[in-house]
Amino acid sequence: MESGGKLAVSIEKSARETLCIVIKDSGCGIDSKRIPHLGEPFYTTKERGIGLGLTICNKIINEHKGFFHVSSKKNDGTSITITLPMKTSELYVVEA
Ligand SMILES: Nc1ncnc2c1ncn2[C@@H]1O[C@H](COP(=O)(O)OP(=O)(O)OP(=O)(O)O)[C@@H](O)[C@H]1O
Ligand SMILES: [Mg+2]
Repeated sequence: MESGGKLAVSIEKSARETLCIVIKDSGCGIDSKRIPHLGEPFYTTKERGIGLGLTICNKIINEHKGFFHVSSKKNDGTSITITLPMKTSELYVVEA
């Protein structure tokens, strides 16, 4: 959101053993034909973008056995929903 806006993050327990994290912005939105390319390495529309942000997010989410879904309309903001399993037995345990 280059000229500011509203960013909302919420968490909801949707289905049984499933957690959804919803990140919603009031930015520029994404054209529907570009949505399938999100997460492809080096896909960017930014002058100084690398196109690795969503690729890295996708890898982290997949390693937690989840997935993300993008809902967006050009000039109307974007909402990204990350769905993660809550069953701890299915997750990696990282010891600090
Ligand atoms: N919330 C969003 N609103 C509008 N466009 C988005 C949003 N998130 C991602 N995009 C689009 O998806 C493209 C890819 O995003 P991604 O985060 O992977 O790379 P980047 O931001 O361009 O570069 P990097 O994150 O590597 O610095 C962006 O260039 C932008 O066009
Ligand atoms: Mg990025």
